Amino acid sequence: MSLALTQTKSYPAWSSRWVFIMAATGSAVGLGNIWKFPYITGENGGGAFVLVYLVCILLLGIPVMVAEVLLGRRGRQSPINTMRELTRAAGLHGFWNHLGWLGVVAGLLILSFYSVIAGWALAYIPEMGRGTFQGAGVAESQAFFDALLADKTRLVAWQSLFMLMTVGVVACGVVKGLGVAVRILMPLLFVLLLAMLIFAYRHGDFSAAAAFLFRPDFTALTGRSVLEALGHSFFTLSLGMGSIMAYGAYMPAGASIGKTVLMVAFLDTLVALMAGMAIFPIVFANPGLNPGAGPELLFVSLPVAFGAMPGGLLVGMVFFILVTIAAWSSAISLIEPGVAWLIEKRGFNRFTANISLGFIAWALGLGTVLSFNDWADFTLGGFTFFGAIDFLTSRIMLPLTGLLIAIFVGWVMPKMMVKSELSGDNSRFYPLWLWVLRYICPLAIGAVLLLGLYDTFTAAG
Ligand code: PFF
Repeated sequence: MSLALTQTKSYPAWSSRWVFIMAATGSAVGLGNIWKFPYITGENGGGAFVLVYLVCILLLGIPVMVAEVLLGRRGRQSPINTMRELTRAAGLHGFWNHLGWLGVVAGLLILSFYSVIAGWALAYIPEMGRGTFQGAGVAESQAFFDALLADKTRLVAWQSLFMLMTVGVVACGVVKGLGVAVRILMPLLFVLLLAMLIFAYRHGDFSAAAAFLFRPDFTALTGRSVLEALGHSFFTLSLGMGSIMAYGAYMPAGASIGKTVLMVAFLDTLVALMAGMAIFPIVFANPGLNPGAGPELLFVSLPVAFGAMPGGLLVGMVFFILVTIAAWSSAISLIEPGVAWLIEKRGFNRFTANISLGFIAWALGLGTVLSFNDWADFTLGGFTFFGAIDFLTSRIMLPLTGLLIAIFVGWVMPKMMVKSELSGDNSRFYPLWLWVLRYICPLAIGAVLLLGLYDTFTAAG
């Protein structure tokens, strides 16, 4: 039996490793960095959580990301078909096919709430322009946010607009448009975050924020927060979902996977830490703001800062435009694996595949919209609808798929296949990477999953 893959379709390879870096960074950098990282850090007590998160990125996220890119480049198809081809070519058990499925389902579930939150960012753009936050204090900012969340019609309108934007780009094809957008807009986001950081340094309580983020207090750490740190390290790097696998399919042969992945992980982590250091100084300088406020943290605290800055309304408007764009390039990568599969396997065209999946994610997203108003008191095991989808995806599905990918590449896939994909990499790191993937990743992810689930459900029950 031949281990070489038959390519069912010739894939367009991206012109260079840099295009892959930009697209993968576009997928990785999103609401997870700017919105989610600060708020879950606040909820989990700060420094110790950040430390665990950084360890998870380094020890688990990066090795699994290398494995995912490698799988994608080897298969050169949608994640589901890549897994199917690889298992068939290597004569492996059909069980491994399901990895691709898990990813596509997780992508739709994540997209369902992702589009609602991105809708909030969209809603803030005209408000900034209109001057709603000019000189606003914490109470006004909070009141605005509460009113937005209570208004289902507005939430659905913004969510729908964001979903149309996502479906629109994917319908036009990912490779061309996305490359350009990411090359220009990501650096702009970076510069703006830097400006926010300087503002926070001059006007906020920078040292309190630095102590909160970087001085670990391990008493604040529970099994549940360790699981959250692990899940978030996968979420923020877009792992365990097929997105990175799908993008890996476009990566030129022979380019170094290790170096590329390190670059993406570094940029992603940098943006998250910058967002944290832009938000928390403002939170600590305003007694009315609470670091553990939850999902509203970004949306209530930053507008206060914009309202107080000279030229802040314009800066604020640009900021929320960039947050929307960062979310947009991530949302595209959430839907792309499913779309690629429907086209390849089910004979859909790009347009209908997109519309169908976009509609499913949109309809599910209505549950998230309602969980902030009508269904706010309706909880299951302590979770609202949004909380449950977030928990199911970030804390169960992504780590579980990551675990299976580590086992598949580390133990099951023929070593010859693995090694040949890494031929562009420094061979000194190969044994170390393989060892971490084979032993550390499965054990650590498995242990954290079990411990975290136990902790979560005993605490809830
Ligand atoms: N990494 C994105 C973020 O941090 O916002 C979210 C995401 C995108 C998760 C794509 C998973 C994915 F496949």
